[in-house]
Amino acid sequence: MTPAGPADERLTALISELATKGYLPGPADDWTRALHAVPRHTFVPARAWTPSGPIDRDAHPDRWWDAVYADAPITTQTDDGTTDPITGQGVATSSLSALSGVLFNMGFLDLDDGHRVLEIGTGTGYTAALTARIVGKAGSVVSVEVDAELASAAEKNLTAALPADSRTPALIVGDGADGYAADAPYDRVHATCSVQTIPPAWLAQTRPGGRIVTPYGRWFGYGSVAQVDVLPDGTGIGRFPGTSGYMPLRSQRPVDGHPADWDAPGARISRTGVNPRTVAYAPAAADLVITHLAPGVAARRADDALWLLDGRDPDCWAIVVLAEHEDLFEVRQHGRRDLWDETVAAYFRWQALGRPTLDRFGLTVTDAGERLWLDRPDDVIF
Ligand SMILES: C[S@@+](CC[C@H](N)C(=O)[O-])C[C@H]1O[C@@H](n2cnc3c(N)ncnc32)[C@H](O)[C@@H]1O
Repeated sequence: MTPAGPADERLTALISELATKGYLPGPADDWTRALHAVPRHTFVPARAWTPSGPIDRDAHPDRWWDAVYADAPITTQTDDGTTDPITGQGVATSSLSALSGVLFNMGFLDLDDGHRVLEIGTGTGYTAALTARIVGKAGSVVSVEVDAELASAAEKNLTAALPADSRTPALIVGDGADGYAADAPYDRVHATCSVQTIPPAWLAQTRPGGRIVTPYGRWFGYGSVAQVDVLPDGTGIGRFPGTSGYMPLRSQRPVDGHPADWDAPGARISRTGVNPRTVAYAPAAADLVITHLAPGVAARRADDALWLLDGRDPDCWAIVVLAEHEDLFEVRQHGRRDLWDETVAAYFRWQALGRPTLDRFGLTVTDAGERLWLDRPDDVIF
């Protein structure tokens, strides 16, 4: 059994760092108690991957403990389990998110004692355990995970972490896009994977006056966090209180299969005076507008080029060459859409609106789809 000592000191230091940076939600005492009551190390596998490299509890215990209580994500699954995360290869498909990101998003949930919460993306089970602790025995947590192996590991983690007399989150294996109707309505829906659009089931399963908090719009830029409150008629009205970069909901991943070769035949070649870096590294608010006005566009930023990919159509892509000291940049567009033209038009629409900041945008969600607006719900942009 690992002694509690290495955790306590490190956790106290981490909480203090996050509180200083403003990430600890209020009431701070409740959250501090919850963070101490839910031992983060119980949710980290013996071998995993971090931004600073691999960690192995048996081979290098100090390094492992430091990583568990550092403010950084820990990759626990890669390529849906087909690649060992410790290799550092492949795409992360599950992780224990950085604690600052977890607390930042959970702060918007405004959780209270007795709340019924639906979580999407159980992963290791850590955020489900934290949520259960905050909503207390009068509340409940249902957490949905698409990957059965992860759900089974999470169940073991939760059993090891939570005292026998505490109310454990109910774990469901399934597509979180469907929510979990059997236990609805929920006071809060909390997604820990990002969506392009908010699944209708989440709205339908949220109590009037309840709230959905989800990472949003990840394909083009870093992504934002959407906080959507549900009205009695089932409409969701939301805002974007910050940025948040999470892996996408499995059913809303961009498709693969775009060519990695800019000489691929059939491309329409032109030149542009717009520096692609201006569009590729735009503020989050511009990314949000681009996500809506050029729907489905995903960006890949390479050293020598900006790739734009249609996340729903592998035949559709654009590339802009990042030549230095050039007045004009070569553009190649392929497939049924002119993705560069669409993306640039969306970027300049944001400019023409006066470069509004992210917090001025809002979202209305109904059965008919989503509407992005600026300042007031009737000022619809798209
Ligand atoms: C960033 S991790 C979640 C971290 C987790 N909350 C924790 O505390 O460890 C995202 C998780 O979402 C899961 N996921 C992706 N698509 C999903 C879907 N459609 N339904 C449910 N879970 C999904 C992934 O398998 C992954 O475990």
